[in-house]
Amino acid sequence: MRVAVVHGPNLRLLGRREPEIYGTRTLASIDDALGELASELGIELEAFQSNHEGEILDWMEARGGELDGVVINPASLTHSSVGLRDAFLALELPFVEVHLSNPHAREPFRHRSLLSDVASGVVFGFGPEGYLLALRGLHARLSS
Ligand code: DQA
Repeated sequence: MRVAVVHGPNLRLLGRREPEIYGTRTLASIDDALGELASELGIELEAFQSNHEGEILDWMEARGGELDGVVINPASLTHSSVGLRDAFLALELPFVEVHLSNPHAREPFRHRSLLSDVASGVVFGFGPEGYLLALRGLHARLSS
C-alpha cells in the first residue's frame, strides 16, 4: 500500500508557529512518527510539503497515479482551493483531511472546508496525534 502525507502552507513552521494553537512538535517529528506507524502497518509512506497551491497540484498530478491514498493537512488551502478539491476528484484518490486544531472552534472563515465532503474521513483537533489516527483510518479503509 502506497500512501503520501501532504502538508500545506506554513506547516514547515510547526514548533514555533502559534504554539498555543498548534503545539510545539515540529513537522519533521510528525513525519518521523508517521514513518514508524507506516512501517508497522506495512505502508510505503512519502511526505511532501509546499507553501504553493500550484506546486501541490503539480505534485499530485505527477505522483497521484502511483498512490493508493493521501493523508493531507491542506492548511489554509482547506478554505480556498477549488483546485485541490478538483485534483482529488480527477485522480479518484482517497484521502483523509487532518487539522491539528479544530477549525470549527475558530474564526468563521475556517469553518468552511472545500474538501471535507469529498474526503474518505476527517480528523480535526487532536494535534499531531490526528495524523496517526488518519493514517490508521486510511489503512483500514484501503484494506477493506
Ligand atoms: C490548520 C487549520 C487551518 O485553518 C490553518 O489555515 C492552518 C492549519 C490546522 O492544522 O489546524 O494552516 O489546517
